[in-house]
Amino acid sequence: MPAITSSSPAKTILFGEHAVVYGQPAIAVPVNNLQTKVTIQGLPTKPAGTIEIKAPAVGLDTTYAALAEDHPLRQSIDLFTAHHHLPNIMAMRIMIASTIPAGSGLGSSAALSVALFNALSGFLGIDSKPEEINYLAYEAEKIFHGTPSGIDNTVIAFNAPIIFQRGEPMQFLDIGATFHFMLINCGVSASTAEAVGAVRALVERYPEQVTPLIREIGVITGEAKSALAGGDRWLLGSLMQRNQALLKSLTVSHPQLDLVVAICERSGALGAKLSGGGRGGHVLCLLEEPDNQRLILNLRDNGFSNTIPFSLSPTDWS
Ligand code: PMV
Repeated sequence: MPAITSSSPAKTILFGEHAVVYGQPAIAVPVNNLQTKVTIQGLPTKPAGTIEIKAPAVGLDTTYAALAEDHPLRQSIDLFTAHHHLPNIMAMRIMIASTIPAGSGLGSSAALSVALFNALSGFLGIDSKPEEINYLAYEAEKIFHGTPSGIDNTVIAFNAPIIFQRGEPMQFLDIGATFHFMLINCGVSASTAEAVGAVRALVERYPEQVTPLIREIGVITGEAKSALAGGDRWLLGSLMQRNQALLKSLTVSHPQLDLVVAICERSGALGAKLSGGGRGGHVLCLLEEPDNQRLILNLRDNGFSNTIPFSLSPTDWS
């Protein structure tokens, strides 16, 4: 049986993080130059149920049976086999390789789940639709993250720009022109769960002040949908600035994020904002041209050398 490989992209949130937790829409896009790759190969000489797992980048060289029962990878495999009623699957080796940094708001766990479930489906001859992969990846995200909104697994399972609102059918986005972005790591790591908890505490304590900010983020996200469809880079950039100001009011920015945003602004970026949970992680910056050397130099001068450029193009998704 030939080996099966499945690859999934990273993701970033363009607009609406945090507000999405309160029912507002959010926009997320795949970042295809970062990928998690899962390869499965059969082990015909080993007894059924044997699952070897190799993820050299994180020092994992083990078997399913040797993993603790609550290990997320083991639970993910359990999810898949329970969903498909597969009590004793054929022996296999699962190999995992990823260029998506973990714990940095780029959807590494959702990318792993989607790539794993797609690879398992392909290897076992199961015709899984993206909807089913998305459902399973959401269940896995709950194991990894507790109470996720579902945006990460959705954008990654469908591998297309989406507008996502809790309880509503997901919509694909129209992209009317090529948009050049850069993700810049601000050098501080932060917990999304803690940031979400801090916003919840604010909402509970100051509902009259905070609820309008969350609604305003929802309005901006709606405007951003039109700016993307109309190919309006300048409007999109100014919406990013407004979204960043509101995220700052929600206390989820950080001095290092603010510094990166300021460097982007004075280096000619059209807009810049934090992306994801905040309090650390990445700034997302919109550029007029893909190669803004002034920005790269200014960032480097301030110690920010970890940058990921990517583009959104109409042709990628139509
Ligand atoms: O930090 P990330 O990229 O996983 O994004 C979190 C986005 C939030 O809206 C803050 C939380 C969520 O579950 O949607």
